[in-house]
Amino acid sequence: MPDRLDLPAGFRWGVSTAAYQIEGAVEEDGRGPSVWDVFAARPGAVREGHSGAVACDHYHRYPEDIELMRGLGLDGYRFSIAWSRVQPTGAGPVNPAGLAFYDRLVDALLEAGIAPLPTLFHWDLPQALEDAGGWLNRDTAYRFGEYAAVVADRLGDRIPTWITLNEPFVHMVYGYALGIHAPGRALMLDALPAAHHQLLGHGLASAALRERGLEVMIANNLTPVWPASSSDADLAAADAYDALHNRLFTDPLLLGRYPDLSAYGVAPDLSAYGVAPDLSAYGVAPDLGGCVHDGDLKLISATPLDGLGVNYYNPTRIAAPTDPGLPFAEAPIDGVPRTAFDWPVVPDGLRELLTGLRDRYGAALPPITITENGCSTTAAIDDQPRIDYLAGHLDALAEAVAQGVDVRGYYTWSLMDNLEWAEGFNQRFGLVYVDFETQRRAPRASYAWYRHLIAAHRARSSR
Ligand code: FCB
Repeated sequence: MPDRLDLPAGFRWGVSTAAYQIEGAVEEDGRGPSVWDVFAARPGAVREGHSGAVACDHYHRYPEDIELMRGLGLDGYRFSIAWSRVQPTGAGPVNPAGLAFYDRLVDALLEAGIAPLPTLFHWDLPQALEDAGGWLNRDTAYRFGEYAAVVADRLGDRIPTWITLNEPFVHMVYGYALGIHAPGRALMLDALPAAHHQLLGHGLASAALRERGLEVMIANNLTPVWPASSSDADLAAADAYDALHNRLFTDPLLLGRYPDLSAYGVAPDLSAYGVAPDLSAYGVAPDLGGCVHDGDLKLISATPLDGLGVNYYNPTRIAAPTDPGLPFAEAPIDGVPRTAFDWPVVPDGLRELLTGLRDRYGAALPPITITENGCSTTAAIDDQPRIDYLAGHLDALAEAVAQGVDVRGYYTWSLMDNLEWAEGFNQRFGLVYVDFETQRRAPRASYAWYRHLIAAHRARSSR
């Protein structure tokens, strides 16, 4: 059995973070408010009333954080750019002081020998755009394209590869369908236009990046879907869930069409636009609420992805619906270890996911990078469960590579403990422990483990 040390030479090692989860300094240097500032101020929205107002104070402490990354011997660092630092209202003139922060960050990373891998949107929409409808408004996609151009003009000379969106599925479901994340809207299936507009935004941003000679990726949250039984009802439910979670955000990019969403009430009428979606199982109007315009899918798929970013945490078990409003119900996964967040730990799910992507998309599948994978633990420093989690998933990844899947890199979530969205500071995902009272950073056992792994892999592949 191949293991993690057998990953190919040149395999890239990294860590991931996101702006609102680490930066703090929300009112500094002209940054405008984002949906997360406003959401976190709502009583009860984030556990214990936590917010990203200070977070890890990375805005001021980034040199120290880059030293921690240098200590790991990383190839790359995935971070996100806060749109409202660059354009405080999400449109119009650029705020030079905001953009200058990322300029300094990028230079410092390059000086440390670490390649920056920026994500343009990791859920922190400028509040002014949300006030105009957010991702339910088609205009937001055009604003996103303009913002991408502005940032690429400034940083594209030093950064060859860009990620447009982080997990548009999670943003749509948690932010617009269930209201658990910002902007806190609970629209259920009426949230579906937020899928199309994010994808359209991806297409417009990709065009802007490609015009500037840059490479384009997206970071999708993907999950193997396990039917709860082999009954027809459970199999149909699993298919419907797979269409929503995995295919809705990947088929349009790789195949230029929506998946069959008929289980959501979306009729196959979208074929008028050269697509054959079946969302009807979700009770959705035949045209995704009228938001898919002629030519959109062409635009969404026009710039081929240079890489697919995969964020993997766990598989999902799906049974026939219990609530008539949805074509599926989530079922528990029993008999496996669980993280502090109570997420099931199934390392082989990563191999299953990756080989499944290869089987599904074949030649249309670009090279893959794991852009997030990790777990929360309760241990201050001695975080053996995290080491076990990472080791297991990296071995499963090596197995997928041995089975022929082209995977180029692995960015663990996360460099350091940070604001875990609605959970506040209560779920700790870091290789580095953060004391949020003093901002003291302390590398955990997993930090040393990851450093040794990276060094050992390099030593072995340079032989
Ligand atoms: C992902 C998010 C990331 C982090 C991890 C734990 O869904 O992209 O910001 O919160 O989960």
